[in-house]
Amino acid sequence: MTLQRTLSILKPDATRRNITGKINAKIEEAGLNIIAQKRLQLSLPQAQAFYAVHAERSFFGELCQFMISGPVVVQVLEGTDAVTKYRDIMGATNPANAKEGSIRREFAESIEANSVHGSDSAENAAVEISFFFSQLEIVA
Ligand code: RTP
Ligand code: MG
Repeated sequence: MTLQRTLSILKPDATRRNITGKINAKIEEAGLNIIAQKRLQLSLPQAQAFYAVHAERSFFGELCQFMISGPVVVQVLEGTDAVTKYRDIMGATNPANAKEGSIRREFAESIEANSVHGSDSAENAAVEISFFFSQLEIVA
């Protein structure tokens, strides 16, 4: 049981369908606190830099184009074991495999347009949070 922070992104398919509030409700119901939040339009270089770990993957180009197809909402979530807790309520990458009640099962359109991003480790969370937020913007 560790107090952690994780970086969340509500992806363009979520802003396009006006369901960011519904997703935030699920985040808060799970006991995670939204301690920073802002809406952004990513540029292609910004999306490529954020997803640099996936640069060699076959879906990298499509993923970056999708992430710049509309606004995103980036967030810092804080709570007990926030990294794994958020991954748990997000559900599997492919909504067809996501568990009942998870964000992706309920809202995702496809394996790519899957509504949310969550950091996959505490180490990556720290890097991803500092990619988007300054200390001044995070209010715990
Ligand atoms: P995320 O990083 O967004 O939280 O998602 P994840 O860990 O569950 O999945 P990851 O393997 O890191 O993939 C990052 C994002 O790339 C898109 N994707 N498309 N077309 C495809 O086969 C495919 N596979 C992954 C998804 O938007 C995924 O969330
Ligand atoms: Mg990932």
